[in-house]
Amino acid sequence: MFHYKKLVFLFMVAVMVLAACQQATPVVTEAPVVTEAPVVTEAPAALSEWSLDCAPNCQYSDLVVGFLQTGSEGGWRAANTSSFKETAEQLGLTLKFYDSQNDLAKQVAGFHQFVQDPEVNVIVLAALETTGWEEILQEAKDAGKVVVIEDRRIDAPEDLYATYIGSDFAEEGRKSAAEMCKLLEGMEGKKVWELVGNVGSSAAKDRGQGFREGMGECGIEITNSQTGNWSTTEGKQVTEAWLRESKDVQGIFAQNDEMGFGAIEALKEAGLTPGEDVKVLSVDATGNAFKAMLEGDLSVTVECNPLLAPQVYEAALKAANGEELPKWVPSQEGVFRADDPNLEEIAAGRTY
Ligand code: AHR
Repeated sequence: MFHYKKLVFLFMVAVMVLAACQQATPVVTEAPVVTEAPVVTEAPAALSEWSLDCAPNCQYSDLVVGFLQTGSEGGWRAANTSSFKETAEQLGLTLKFYDSQNDLAKQVAGFHQFVQDPEVNVIVLAALETTGWEEILQEAKDAGKVVVIEDRRIDAPEDLYATYIGSDFAEEGRKSAAEMCKLLEGMEGKKVWELVGNVGSSAAKDRGQGFREGMGECGIEITNSQTGNWSTTEGKQVTEAWLRESKDVQGIFAQNDEMGFGAIEALKEAGLTPGEDVKVLSVDATGNAFKAMLEGDLSVTVECNPLLAPQVYEAALKAANGEELPKWVPSQEGVFRADDPNLEEIAAGRTY
């Protein structure tokens, strides 16, 4: 009995000692890892190679832009030039305008002039030809000028210019082919004559290539193709010469509106009715193209946007401030058709 009580007693003592030990055991928590608060220093954003001395705070008023325009070959070009002159005034930048008169030698001379002009810090080029620009672009870059290509794409290494802002001419050609396919749908013959722009310009090369890519699908056959140098007079002369040889033509693809107007005149004088006997399609969508569509002479105009100056100047300012830019910013463009029931309304809202 005594033995049993002793055992119970000892058991109780053991339980109490254990409980006391447990309470006394300090709760071991992981010592907090004391890390130094990181010192947040703003890493200066790296300036691109095109930045000017005023970067990153350049304003439009710091820019002196030397703009090498192709010439003044028609309504599209006039709208493009006005866009540059008017926008420069609105933004308060200095514009030095150079008219290359559609002469490559003059354009190259003008480029040299701007490279050497200490006031000019931005050069904008609407190139007459796609090739041959590497050397002079390198000179401009070495002289610390921001170079922006506008309207006409060039074949040169991308590191020689800050950005290119302009149309997708090949897409304009593909759209033209798709529209011509619709216009000639159901016709037995699908013979098309092509009036080409300035040979050597990206607009002419790419529109021609795009048209050929798109036309195969509906059986169009290009039976004549020749340059009309973007001009109404030459477009007319070329069409007259073709008409003297044959009147077997269902469509005319004029790579710009002006040449399309020349073709329309030539067709009428040859006793054909444009819009009925021959479908004329052109590129640009100028005010006069809408007029020709409303009169039923022109069937379709594919838009090429000339109002590029706001985008070009903005890009130049960004480049001057050391921002990296995409190498190509394509314009958004539509297609307008003579049979659109809202054509008058659309024409009234056009700005060029
Ligand atoms: O580069 C754009 C082209 O140049 C236009 O389609 C044409 O009219 C202009 O002269």
